[in-house]
Amino acid sequence: MRLVTPRLVLRNFIEADLAREWAPLKPVAAAVQPFDLRDLPAVKRQVHDAIATCREEPRTTWDLAVVVSEGERLIGRAGLKRGEREPREALMWFVSDPSSWNQGYAHEALTALLGAAFGPLKLHRVTAETSPGNAGAVGLFESLGLRREAHFVENAFAGGRWVDTALYATLDREWAARPKP
Ligand SMILES: CC(C)(COP(=O)(O)OP(=O)(O)OC[C@H]1O[C@@H](n2cnc3c(N)ncnc32)[C@H](O)[C@@H]1OP(=O)(O)O)[C@@H](O)C(=O)NCCC(=O)NCCS
Repeated sequence: MRLVTPRLVLRNFIEADLAREWAPLKPVAAAVQPFDLRDLPAVKRQVHDAIATCREEPRTTWDLAVVVSEGERLIGRAGLKRGEREPREALMWFVSDPSSWNQGYAHEALTALLGAAFGPLKLHRVTAETSPGNAGAVGLFESLGLRREAHFVENAFAGGRWVDTALYATLDREWAARPKP
């Protein structure tokens, strides 16, 4: 899958992304693995796993590199993973390097991804999850018109403690009927 927006390209990760030097990989590391920036081998494993999803048949996960067209700067990852129980539902995510925040990139990337989800992929429902205290993610999902459907209490164990999760979702017909700019 390759999605082109006015400022971005969302494309499959490629072997060349793995071959980057460690130092230049640091901003990429922040983008692909924001929870432990020091663990660059884990980042490489994550990129390696993303490349492996391209060979799935049929493909169920699109874990895409987000590249700023100008300068071909890799700033993060965005993706969709089909549900095992219901393949016409998918979980969506976006993670980017902090130096690229607040420039509308996440909104631009996920608008394109939702267009692909409800267009060529013919999905019925897309969900997204975040910590309820993650103001950036909450602002992002609300700016896309996603509906907050649930607040799960201490349903995940992360960083040595139990944490809450907010679940957002939108349907194909809701996305089609959204107010356009
Ligand atoms: C959350 C994140 C993806 C936002 O990326 P971004 O490129 O800065 O987002 P955008 O500039 O496209 O902003 C999209 C909307 O969210 C809002 N927003 C972004 N950061 C915000 C913040 N810290 N507080 C409140 N609103 C915020 C913007 O105002 C914008 O809304 P608007 O169009 O109504 O003005 C980024 O901070 C990130 O990668 N965080 C770590 C990973 C993560 O939490 N991912 C989301 C869960 S999958």
